[in-house]
Formats: sequence, structure tokens, C-alpha cells
Amino acid sequence: MPQAALPGFRDFYPDKFAERAYVLSVWRDVLRRYAFVEYDGPPLEHLDLYRRKSGGELVGQLYSFTDKGGREVALRPEMTPTLARMVAAKANALRKPVRWFSIPQLFRYEKQQRGRLREHFQLNADIVGESSVAADAELIAVALDVIQTFGLTPADVVARVSDRRLLEALLLDAGVVTSAMPTIFAVIDKRGREPVAIARQKLEAAVGSASVADRVEAILDCHDVASLVKHFSGVESAAEHIERMRQYLVYVAALGFAEWVRLDLSIVRGLAYYTGIVFELLDTAGELRAICGGGRYDTLLANLGGADLPALGFGMGDVVLGDLLRSRKLIPAATATTDYWVAADDESLLVDVMMVASELRRRNRSVEYALRPQQLGRQLKAAATAGARSAVLLKSDRYMLREVTVKDLESGTEQSLLLDEFLRTLS
Ligand code: HAM
Repeated sequence: MPQAALPGFRDFYPDKFAERAYVLSVWRDVLRRYAFVEYDGPPLEHLDLYRRKSGGELVGQLYSFTDKGGREVALRPEMTPTLARMVAAKANALRKPVRWFSIPQLFRYEKQQRGRLREHFQLNADIVGESSVAADAELIAVALDVIQTFGLTPADVVARVSDRRLLEALLLDAGVVTSAMPTIFAVIDKRGREPVAIARQKLEAAVGSASVADRVEAILDCHDVASLVKHFSGVESAAEHIERMRQYLVYVAALGFAEWVRLDLSIVRGLAYYTGIVFELLDTAGELRAICGGGRYDTLLANLGGADLPALGFGMGDVVLGDLLRSRKLIPAATATTDYWVAADDESLLVDVMMVASELRRRNRSVEYALRPQQLGRQLKAAATAGARSAVLLKSDRYMLREVTVKDLESGTEQSLLLDEFLRTLS
């Protein structure tokens, strides 16, 4: 038995590759509409870049090793530290705001589970150099437009949005102490993926009392700005964050995506660098892992020793998205790309077959022919199997007069004409 690919890694046979190419082509098309430009960085980076910047469970999932020069390196598990490094290095020379996208293949040593592999392709879109909340709205509009362009609707996907600053202000007001914040965030992050009773138990343990846990749950139960205002308008430290959220939702509505978005303060995001509005796109049925996640990370560039520029972005993987699109039958069947199959009824004509194929290819047509002598019937069968649209037949008695027969393989209709005439119709 030939060895299989490593666990969590995919072989892209042509049908799977066609799916991947389709997803990437839609990504590129939508990002072009939003005037983002494409960039890339190296797949291998200094290990230190992620140790310092990614945080959370990602650091434990790195594919890292010491290279032959003794450097500690890692395959990229995410794109954001590379983007921050690249922008920081040329910050002064770049037109701001930077609107860049990339489609890196990323590597994480994940536990095997549905929707999580050890490599995936991830669309990254980032805006650097803009602190206005209009940029946050623009960003989520890009992510949702991608989803919409694939044919998905608000019945399939919901965008859950939060703001770390708002959540923190409300938690402090509820009696949570600053030192307990990271633990509470982790507990909040896992809620919804755990039974209610267990989530409650963990919350009480983290905040230290049932009454504070009640207050935290009241915060997490707010799913629109009106209820935030109703319950927390007296919390002075939260006022500017509530106002920002209101403005954000107005802008998201202006961009045409109000229907998709729901306030959900339990969205914390695992990565350490987020500082403001964050969001995740999830399937409404709640069956799959997140399709997309991102948010504002205003301090990452300065922390890397570069310019102090605000930034925000998201990552959308191809795995969960692909599962969802397949389940909704939204991936178009790959179409055959062969325009012509050139065939002859005499093996002595192989050189002529090659010359005709070559002429057609020069005219930008996709062309194949049998690479060994074969009966005409077998050649035509091969043409049909390949999905060729037409066959160009060289019959020895007619080809002496430079005549060919062009056969439409779908309808079966044939037309005989001079080769030069046929070629002229193609240019
Ligand atoms: P993330 O939440 O770690 O964020 O990943 C973003 C998306 O990538 C996930 O929602 C998921 O669709 C996909 N993804 C992540 N890990 C895997 C995996 N092991 N297998 C399959 N799909 C996966 C980030 O990576 C941030 N750097 C995104 C970002 C860009 N934030 C700002 N700019």
C-alpha cells in the first residue's frame, strides 16, 4: 500500500483542487471589489515571532524546529505577525490606510476534529493605519460579502460581534477584578460549547461569587445596543464603547449587512493581540467551528518595535467554509477545459495531428490528442472521456487536400472545411 498523506494534511486530486481554486477565485474577486491588494510573506519565520505575538493555544500548536544554521524557526500558523512585521518594516513608505490581503497556507499541530486540519488556506484581509470605527465596519463587510458572493445567506451564517474594551468595562463594573480577567475571558470563550450547568459552575468559580456570576450573565445576555443602553447606561466607563458599537452597527447597515450581524459579548477570540471590536462568522445551525474570525489589534505593530499604527483584520479558512458550501451544494461542478481533441484515421498522420494541435494552442485553445497510435474510434472515446467540446478529425484521403472535419462532441454535428479556413474562424 502506498503511504497516505500525514494526518491533517490533504491531497488535492484535480476535483478537490478545482474546489480549492473556485474558493480562492471568489476570495480574490471580492477583495478586488473592496480595493484590497494582494501580498505574501515567507512560509517559515523565526519561532520567536509567534512566541511573542500569537499567544493562547496557538503557541502550543507550532510546527517548529532548529534549522541547519541553528535558528529556531516555525512554519507560519497564522499570517498576522508576518503582516505586522512587513508593514512595520516599511511603515513610512506605505500609503495609509494599508488595505492588503493574502491567501497563505498555514500550519497548526491541532487535535484531530471536524473542521480543523493541520494545514489550511486562510484568506487574510487587514487594514493598517486607521483607528476610525468606519474601518471596523468596512472589514466585516468584506468578510460578509465573501460569504454572500458564495450564495450563502443570513439563514446560513451569522456574524457575532463584540468589543473587548466594552466587555472589560462592564465586567469591572460587575465586580470582576482585573487580575481575574484572563481567566474570565477563557471561561466566556468556552461558554456555548459546554452544558449550561458546567458553564455556570466555571463562571462562579472564576468570579468568586454567585451574585457577580449573575451580573456577568446579564451582560452576556445583551444582544443589541438598546439592551446595553437600557441596562448599562449608568456605567460611565462603558459609555464611549457602547456609543462606538452603536456607530459601528449603523455603518454595517449602510454597507448592506445589518441582517447578518448580532451583538454577542461572549465572542472573545483566542489570540492575545486583539484590543477592540472582534467578530466571528458562524453557521447558524451551530454545527461547525468558526468560519472566520478577526478584529482590531491596535498595539501589535508597536509591540513588534515598528511604527505605532492601529490595525484590524480577519482570517477565513477554507476548511469549514468548504464543508458549508458542499453541504449547501454551492460549489459549481468543475467544467471540462479541453476545447479540441485532434484525431486522425491513420497513424502516419501523427505529425500532422501535432501540427494542427500546435496551431490551435497558438490561438489560445486547450487541445489534447492521443500520445500513441490508436484506432479512430478509441481516440474519439478518449476525447469524450476527457470532456472535450469538439474533435478535429484528420481523415487521410481528405487531409491530402488540407481538409479537416470539426465535430461537436455534444450535438454530434460535423462540418468539413479547409484547415486554413477553420483556423481563420478562431483567431
Ligand atoms: P483564527 O481565529 O485563529 O484567526 O483563524 C481564522 C479562521 O481560520 C478560523 O475561523 C478558521 O476558519 C480557520 N482555521 C484556523 N485554524 C484552522 C485549522 N487548524 N484548520 C482549519 N481551519 C482553521 C487568525 O488566524 C487571525 N490571525 C486572523 C486575523 C487576521 N486577525 C487579524 N488579521
